[in-house]
Amino acid sequence: MPATFDVLSLIQPSGDLTLGNYFGAVANWVRLQDEQRCLFGIVDYHAMTVPFQPSKLRQRTWDMAIDLQACGLDPERCLLIVQSLVPEHTELAWIFACITPYSWAAKMTQFKDKSRQVEAQGASYSAGLLLYPILQAADILMYKAAHVPVGGDQDQHLELARDVARVFNREYADIFPEPTPLHTEAPKILSPADPTRKMSKSLGSKHVIGVFDDPDVIRRKVKSAVTDTGDAPADGALSPGVEGLLTLLDVSGCADEAQGFREEYARGNRRYAPLKEVVGDALVALTDPMRERRAALRAGRKAVKRQMGESSARAREIARATLAEVREATGLPPLPQ
Ligand code: AMP
Ligand code: TRP
Repeated sequence: MPATFDVLSLIQPSGDLTLGNYFGAVANWVRLQDEQRCLFGIVDYHAMTVPFQPSKLRQRTWDMAIDLQACGLDPERCLLIVQSLVPEHTELAWIFACITPYSWAAKMTQFKDKSRQVEAQGASYSAGLLLYPILQAADILMYKAAHVPVGGDQDQHLELARDVARVFNREYADIFPEPTPLHTEAPKILSPADPTRKMSKSLGSKHVIGVFDDPDVIRRKVKSAVTDTGDAPADGALSPGVEGLLTLLDVSGCADEAQGFREEYARGNRRYAPLKEVVGDALVALTDPMRERRAALRAGRKAVKRQMGESSARAREIARATLAEVREATGLPPLPQ
């Protein structure tokens, strides 16, 4: 069966985008939207699987819609949705939940990690957390997507989506193409405060640089980034912090400058202030237009909501068609027209 979308990927409305999210995911989506039929979106249902605040959930969902567009996703060039504005996702997730062995869900690494985290905060984890990857399978299979660009941490969930598709196709009707992960060589962006770890909001604010941080903040965080701690590595290799800064320069479109610094450092120069200066400038230059677009989109918040509603309504038509097939194959009655 033909894929409806070549590429599909979704992101949680988890607050401001970091440079890690941008270079690791969103920049790639922006590139793909001109090359393939793409669906991108914001998974607010997934954000409910751990304790959440209603007012924040809604705010962050609209903020993320704005931020993705400010980064360059264009609703004219890709289908951009809010998951819960296509409530059929939950219906398909329910049907999938009923054909998926419990043990497949219970063995997911992310479920084990997150359930432990929630318990450590003194709360009990929800049944939704267990169903998380099944909802993710519904997101993907609903649109018969061929490729799913995700970080390696999502491989297990993607494998589950493939398994669900296989079970459905075998037991009920051959409807779903098996989605494959799309591992483009997305760079790993490191924490400026601890470059042995990935940049991540869960580590704390000094570990992240936000795409929409003020230019001063970006420069300051780059300036205070950890480089060599004590002596430089003896074998002539660069320390993780220096590599991290060079990566930022590479991915900001300044690969030549990065190469220049690499050559100097290979000759034994260990001065990092000039590198930090250039990295700060490059990041600010790259993000300036995004900050501008974000301000404009925020000023027209209503229009963004309307537009997200319209594009989600278009997605809904595809979702309804898929569910009609699924209901037919599983013995549920067709919905009255
Ligand atoms: P998260 O909100 O952390 O689940 O990340 C959303 C997306 O951004 C995923 O596709 C991640 O792979 C990507 N991402 C997050 N942090 C980084 C990072 N430090 N380096 C590269 N990619 C990242
Ligand atoms: N679980 C994904 C993440 O945390 C988000 C997600 C939900 C997703 N549904 C998806 C990603 C469907 C790709 C396709 O990054």
